[in-house]
Amino acid sequence: MSTAFDTTASKSEVYQPSREILESVQASDYLELREEALQDPLSFWDRQAKELLDWYEPYQQIFDDSNRPFFKWFTGGKINVVHNALDRHVKSWRKNKLALIWEAEDGEQRTYSYFKLWKEVNRFANILKSMGVKKGDTVTIYMGRVPEMPIAMLATAKIGAIHSVVYGGFSEQALADRIDDAKSKVVVTCDGSWLRGKTVNLKDIVDEAIARSPVVQRVIVLKRTGQEVNMVPDRDFWWHELAALPIAGPYCETEPMDAEDPMFILYTSGTTGKPKGLMHSCGGYLVHIAATLKYAFDTREDDRWWCAADPGWITGHSYIVYAPLILGLTSFMYEGAPGYPYPDRWWQQVEKYGITLLYTAPTAIRGLMRFGDAWPARHDLSSLRILGTVGEPINPEAWRWYNVNIGKERCPIIDTWWQTETGGFMITPTPIIPLKPGSATLPFAGVEADVVREDGSSCNPDEDGYLVIKHPVPGMARTIWGDPDRFVQTYWSDFEKQGWYFSGDSARKDEDNYFWIIGRMDDVIKVSGYRLGTAEVESALVSHHAVAEAACIGVPDELRGNVIRAYCILTAGVSGSESLEDELKAHVRHEVGPIAVPASIEFVDSLPKTRSGKIMRRLLKAKVLGQPVGDTSTLEA
Ligand code: WTA
Repeated sequence: MSTAFDTTASKSEVYQPSREILESVQASDYLELREEALQDPLSFWDRQAKELLDWYEPYQQIFDDSNRPFFKWFTGGKINVVHNALDRHVKSWRKNKLALIWEAEDGEQRTYSYFKLWKEVNRFANILKSMGVKKGDTVTIYMGRVPEMPIAMLATAKIGAIHSVVYGGFSEQALADRIDDAKSKVVVTCDGSWLRGKTVNLKDIVDEAIARSPVVQRVIVLKRTGQEVNMVPDRDFWWHELAALPIAGPYCETEPMDAEDPMFILYTSGTTGKPKGLMHSCGGYLVHIAATLKYAFDTREDDRWWCAADPGWITGHSYIVYAPLILGLTSFMYEGAPGYPYPDRWWQQVEKYGITLLYTAPTAIRGLMRFGDAWPARHDLSSLRILGTVGEPINPEAWRWYNVNIGKERCPIIDTWWQTETGGFMITPTPIIPLKPGSATLPFAGVEADVVREDGSSCNPDEDGYLVIKHPVPGMARTIWGDPDRFVQTYWSDFEKQGWYFSGDSARKDEDNYFWIIGRMDDVIKVSGYRLGTAEVESALVSHHAVAEAACIGVPDELRGNVIRAYCILTAGVSGSESLEDELKAHVRHEVGPIAVPASIEFVDSLPKTRSGKIMRRLLKAKVLGQPVGDTSTLEA
């Protein structure tokens, strides 16, 4: 429940919006709008749905709560994201507008107009069809950060299939589990991806995952690095070879979807080793992401938007791929690592491409801040208008650095709190809201959030409690793929009586009703903003023959927010050593991925457990942090 940083110090530090912002912002009436939406959230969302999206057929009902907590939105409506993100733009003047600018790690540059992107998506949609993909089928996408990744996502959605994107930093077991759970017959991947001048062999990982998860029948492989890969005849096909065939025709009909049809699954970590596939719908999700991006970042036609996340996480799904395209913006996407090859790579790109809106994570800011002020100072960053942050609480020091060195004290910092589960921003300022470093400020219009005690009563100002959502929001996930009971249990059972959604986060509100997120209350760890379950790392550790039992905790880290610390009981006859520690780290890297590698592993003889045998990670953590251990009455004697 603790963060690495003191966020309380900055509560009296308030940044008022500048006159320039107040005079230029489009939604200058946002506070009134928010007040109205608080009284009548359905009308607010209804208006957004009509203003921001085109529907093939209008919806009959805005909100249906007849089967709680499986809420529905915009029922009866027919829609497709690709119709809104591409088809309608190519019929307008936006046809020749840039949809996407991409820079490779080695400096290569590519641009896609809306027309060009639309054509590529049509082609790939036809390729997917020729592979037997039909409406309602799942397609797993496992790629580096290349334009073909959004193209594959859009093409899947165009034909009414459901994508499951697996972050390219995950390894064999993590990928195999996700393919298996989604039962994807088709996987789209690359031969390899680039990171810090080196290649990662993605195709090899796919091959190993398929060996563990035999549902896959077809693999489409994009040639990105040109490295040697093994192509299995009749199973594996090169993207470029398929694209040259007559099957890859330049036009593919967009499938009208019911608003409540599944649009995608995205796996995220929870308290058990089995990842949860959060399922998002076709209608409500789009309304939510388009409205939040428009208001929070005051987006304009001539903006150049850079969401520096990976499309493989929810931030990338919602705010690299879908929302910016729906709003007709020009997005920038960068393949590689932030400080590669020099610490000013990002600032150079801001200058080169005239980025106006930059949205990133505290861990990236801290990582770049480390190199000092001189690197951003070398570049003209005056194109920037608004900055954003997401993923974990931002420590005031990083906030101030971002504000002074990047925003030059002119750019509001939009701190957006949300989750894979919520689909889009939930608590966020807009540019007219006074800011306090470290606070995500106020719930977005139409979102009713609160901090409450276990009995559901609202906490007093500055009292820690559970962060809950009291009324469903259109973008919230509809279920956990294949496991509706777990959906109810995980999110809707803590405050069942009240019918509220529990986020898993603890927070407090201050006397101005500003929200301060403290952190996860469950066994989820945020490492460099990436979300990991302790159980995933633990099951990777115990899958090694030397380990009998393992427990992982997150401990605060100045740069990465948290790092993982693992405790292992070794199997009889094995003794701990530095080389075993290295071997176990390599094993976790191979099974789950580099982000899951523990910073340290301690070999122990026992682990604190409850009488029912559950490991008490809370105790391990309290010990590391030198905090009181609290209630231990359920501890095993
Ligand atoms: C944390 C990422 C503080 C939080 C979009 C949440 C944040 C989890 C913020 C979801 C923020 C996200 N301030 N904490 N602005 N944004 N979090 O699913 O703990 O990867 O529950 O979604 O990240 O992580 P996820």
